[in-house]
Amino acid sequence: PQRILIDTDPGIDDALAILLALASPEVRVEGISVVFGNCAVDQGLRNALAILDLVRAPQIPVARGMDRPLVQPLLLAPETHGDTGLGYARLPEPTRQPDPRHGVDLIIEKARMAPGELTLVALGPLTNLAMALRREPRLVEWLHRVVIMGGAIRHQGNTTPLAEFNVYCDPHAAHIVYHSGLPITLVPLDVTYQVVLRPEHVEALLALNSPVARFIAEATRFYMEFHDAYQNIEGCVINDPLALAVVFAPDLVGVERHYVDVDISGGVSLGKTFADFYRLTGKPANMEVALKVESERFLNLFMDRMAQLCRA
Ligand code: BDR
Ligand code: CA
Repeated sequence: PQRILIDTDPGIDDALAILLALASPEVRVEGISVVFGNCAVDQGLRNALAILDLVRAPQIPVARGMDRPLVQPLLLAPETHGDTGLGYARLPEPTRQPDPRHGVDLIIEKARMAPGELTLVALGPLTNLAMALRREPRLVEWLHRVVIMGGAIRHQGNTTPLAEFNVYCDPHAAHIVYHSGLPITLVPLDVTYQVVLRPEHVEALLALNSPVARFIAEATRFYMEFHDAYQNIEGCVINDPLALAVVFAPDLVGVERHYVDVDISGGVSLGKTFADFYRLTGKPANMEVALKVESERFLNLFMDRMAQLCRA
């Protein structure tokens, strides 16, 4: 299996991505670092531990990371993910303890112990990864690949008219990561907005009558209400699971290599991720960007794996 680290702000779709990773034999989760974002970092830490309990996952180090952005004021998303970050779901207090290390140190140490081996999947604001890069520049050589859920290239923003949430939360961190030299695959809203989990998907899982299914139903019920109220979408967009799946099923998406940057100049386009499609800057490509997706194939894969968890 591919060895992965998950950096996350769980978060409803983050929770689904963690479940997908745990249900997928193609990957082995070596650590989870938590960052602020959808909810405060301490809440996200508790959520990550409680999700591992829910599926009786093996021991995986889960470390508390950054609780605020590098420069910008703190922004959270209770309207999207609920006050606890997991919608209407209520999980018991976790039985497992967080790893004593800082999330930034967990990333560095795991990568140092397995140079060239680990893929980091970043599902929240990029603050932990940016801090790790500043603290340990050799991380660029040690990490095999970084898959990032973030940005809206041709798609509209979901936080400002131009900017996507993860990047808008900490645009300066995104700037550090984009220009780090790391091999990056970016999974932006352009593709994630094509994967909509619909009520009938959740019904199918609920028919399996398991605590995991009830968790997914209660979490996504809130998320679907948000999508209905704010975005006129029936169902919910599951951004983070798609990025997770791209690690082990890269052919789910069609990518292009481009020079990609983020606006940190502070105007109306603050946090906007943009690609130089016409090579106007003369700068070399710094990442591959997913711009197409086989959404039904992904949804089938996602549903199969969730059903497996529900039956376990
Ligand atoms: C991203 O923002 C968060 O709300 C989601 O968890 C996802 O990572 C989508 O813009
Ligand atoms: Ca997220």
